[in-house]
Amino acid sequence: MAARRITDNVFFVGAMDWNRRLFDSLIPLPDGTSYNSYFIRGSEKNALIDTVDPAKEEQLVANLKEVSAERIDYIVSNHTEQDHSGWIPRMLELHPEAKVVTNAKCKEFLQDHLLISEEKFILIEDGETLSLGDKTLQFIIAPWVHWPETMFTYLIEDKILFPCDFLGSHLAPSELFVEDIAHFYEGAKRYYAEIMMPFRTNVQKHLKRLRDFEIDIIAPSHGPIHLNPQPILAAYAEWSSDEVKNTVVLPFVSMHGSTEKMVEYLLEGLVERRIEVKPFDLVKADPGKLAMAIVDAATIVIGTSTVLVGAHPKAIYAAALVNALRPKTRFAGIIGSYGWGTRMVDQLKGMLANLKVEMFDPVVVKGYPKVADLSALDNLADRILEKHSEAGLTK
Ligand code: FEO
Repeated sequence: MAARRITDNVFFVGAMDWNRRLFDSLIPLPDGTSYNSYFIRGSEKNALIDTVDPAKEEQLVANLKEVSAERIDYIVSNHTEQDHSGWIPRMLELHPEAKVVTNAKCKEFLQDHLLISEEKFILIEDGETLSLGDKTLQFIIAPWVHWPETMFTYLIEDKILFPCDFLGSHLAPSELFVEDIAHFYEGAKRYYAEIMMPFRTNVQKHLKRLRDFEIDIIAPSHGPIHLNPQPILAAYAEWSSDEVKNTVVLPFVSMHGSTEKMVEYLLEGLVERRIEVKPFDLVKADPGKLAMAIVDAATIVIGTSTVLVGAHPKAIYAAALVNALRPKTRFAGIIGSYGWGTRMVDQLKGMLANLKVEMFDPVVVKGYPKVADLSALDNLADRILEKHSEAGLTK
């Protein structure tokens, strides 16, 4: 995408990555992503807010040329991860006059990851300002969304917040500006689930702090720019709140049909009890969809076959993912079957240690589920309904 003007002398100069399909060799990117970099021309100094992934260097260089950014005095680094910082070393070669403006922790990380030399840095503290002449940058240190060194940059005169990953989305939109989050809601929620959810309490804290700033535009480092900040701020407030929904997420894997029968039976039972169910066959499921589903579900039940006395590796992957993402889920269960022996329950329970959940009694069946086993699943559905009702989630 070519450079785009945001406000007077503030430009998008980043890059779209329409074809990228995996991030961190882990996260599916069905809609690609963007690396948003911003050039700010002040009356005395010029600044670049973050750079781009090294794979997209040509686009950043071309866009800077397009906006006649001959001189760059400051490269503000809000976050060390290389999709934003990876092009800083090359930028410093192209612009030897430039200094990297960042906090102490980010400087340490940039030196570790990109070998940037000491004399290239200007360190800032939380709340500090940096004048560009007629424009002023203010820095808000906002750790753990999602690395320990993350910060936001606020352009005071234009009321633009540059929060880097925070409030972003993995999208490569042809329309850079959005006024209505509805079109971008799924991408933003997917991004929140995969990147921000493990840091929910920090998300709450930073949202609260942003209330002190008058923000007209939110310009994150991935996805579209928000000309109306309220919908994305409201969505983050909802996702990061303590509220959960009357929903059971049911990731499962079945080898010979026994576990699948149990899953189907439980699913029907929950639907009859007017509980929303989101099943995910782990052989085919998009992990991003699973991550989105657990953002606000009250309950997760993992269904698995047994492989050599352990849970199926795909169930182990799902448990590891859920555990790493730390959703606000309140209840959890394990169901499944085995051929001749299983330790799946202890294994999976041990893998969910990060979750602050109340565990339901597991339902584990030797072979195909029989009448007594189906009755145990009825009891499980009853217990889930009871807990959801006690929590005030049912109508
Ligand atoms: Fe977009 Fe944490 O990097």
